[in-house]
Amino acid sequence: MTNKQTQGIFSHFFTKILTRKNPDEMLKEASSAGFEKTLGALDLIILGIGAIIGSGIFAVVGIAAAGGNESLGAGPALVVSMVIATFACIFSALCYSEFATMIPVAGGAYTYTFATLGEFAAWMVGWVLMLEYAVGYVAVACAWSNHFMQLVKGFAAYLPNWLVNPPVWLINDYKGAVHQIQAAGGDPGALIPHICGIPFSVNLPACVIVAIITAILVKGTKDSTKMATLMVVIKLAVIALFVLVGAFYVKPSNWVPFAPNGMSGIFMGAFIIFFAYIGFDALATAAEECKNPQKDLPIGIIGSLIATTVVYVSVALVLTGVYCTSSGHIDPAFLKAPMAYVMIMVHQNWAAGLISIGSLAGLTSVLLVLQLASTRILYAMSRDNFLPTIFQKLHPRYKTPHVLTILVGVVCMIGTMTLDLDVAAQLCNFGTFTSFIIVCVAVLILRKIDPDRPRPFKVPCSPLLPSLGILCCGGLMVYSMKSLTASALMFPVWLLIGLGIYLQYGYIKNRKVEMNRISIEKDESERELITK
Ligand code: ALA
Repeated sequence: MTNKQTQGIFSHFFTKILTRKNPDEMLKEASSAGFEKTLGALDLIILGIGAIIGSGIFAVVGIAAAGGNESLGAGPALVVSMVIATFACIFSALCYSEFATMIPVAGGAYTYTFATLGEFAAWMVGWVLMLEYAVGYVAVACAWSNHFMQLVKGFAAYLPNWLVNPPVWLINDYKGAVHQIQAAGGDPGALIPHICGIPFSVNLPACVIVAIITAILVKGTKDSTKMATLMVVIKLAVIALFVLVGAFYVKPSNWVPFAPNGMSGIFMGAFIIFFAYIGFDALATAAEECKNPQKDLPIGIIGSLIATTVVYVSVALVLTGVYCTSSGHIDPAFLKAPMAYVMIMVHQNWAAGLISIGSLAGLTSVLLVLQLASTRILYAMSRDNFLPTIFQKLHPRYKTPHVLTILVGVVCMIGTMTLDLDVAAQLCNFGTFTSFIIVCVAVLILRKIDPDRPRPFKVPCSPLLPSLGILCCGGLMVYSMKSLTASALMFPVWLLIGLGIYLQYGYIKNRKVEMNRISIEKDESERELITK
């Protein structure tokens, strides 16, 4: 092969992988997709709060305030960490809103990347988003299982022993079961059953909740928003209860020192509590199901983010005002369920019980939105020939992508049996930071290459705000890598697997589709010539 031929092949390859998808083509495809348009602004705010408020504020907030194995705590300065995380999210949310109103089709960051950075970058973003939604889903499902078991233990006096104290291999992934048995001084080899020589451990409560959520989503988005509404009301009610009851026990002396670990604690706190904000971007992925996306999507995204921030800051002020997070002696039970712990500490056990129920409701609604978002992105990726066409099959009656929804449910069930929870949550953060950064970059690029496209909502003060979004998200991501080990290694491995799938399937299939289209167009023009 001559140098010229090699150059030709490379230039063809790069032209193809940088091929952008025309936003008008996307809008045309979306209008023929057949999704039911049922979501209004209020539905979106509810769906947003449903997606955002979950394990972050019910569990992770303790580590963000008091510190964990690999991280320093922010102490009472957690409110500052929250404000930093909020700003990172708001800058990105504004960029999401500009895109969501300009190209209101399913797929979120994935779709926006296709319109600006081309085919390969779009696939990689979709692949990274699976870390955020599907791997995050696995983490929240396992957290749901932990909270469920905690609630069951609260009713130990009334429930049978097999339910209150099941074997550890029935309520944990394998690694978790081994860890728990070893911590209790037992022998995992003897206590975990083997099937054909392979140790068997299944997180049954997590699998059951995944199966229930999958069934609800197959039945329809409107039903899922009805359920999300109920969950949102319950979780906001218990959070309000916590703030109102806890406020009577706040000792301002607990807020001193305000930042026991200085800026290091505040930044690490911001990175950790960022998990609590994940979810608002999921709204953009349901754009095709909105009645009036141009108006409702920005209201939904920014409204849910502002409401969440008010809730989080109130919780942080009460939490750090009642419990001293800078003493250096932190009870491990505080880290597992900080809000319920604080209520028990001030002898308000009834409130602690209600908070446990509310946290289950909170986690359930997060699960609902995360699975909805995963399926909608995979749907868009299948429509773009990156994945098999069977994924686009809509249920004849419910009009939902049922094959895909069930597949995601099954894969996530397997995930709950195999994935290390901490690493899953960190990977989820990496995926989210990456997608936020790309959306901010994409807004800047599209303003340059397609300045005249109608933008019903425009990010104010561009390029300043999108650049600040890139800086905040990138800064927190890089800062976190200082102390993280496994996830910082697994993230590039995930990217490499994505690259392999694209080269083996997506790239080849897209070229075949292109060839077919060209030959059909050629046939048609020949027929036209003959008839003339
Ligand atoms: N923001 C979601 C939660 O806190 C992921 O559970």
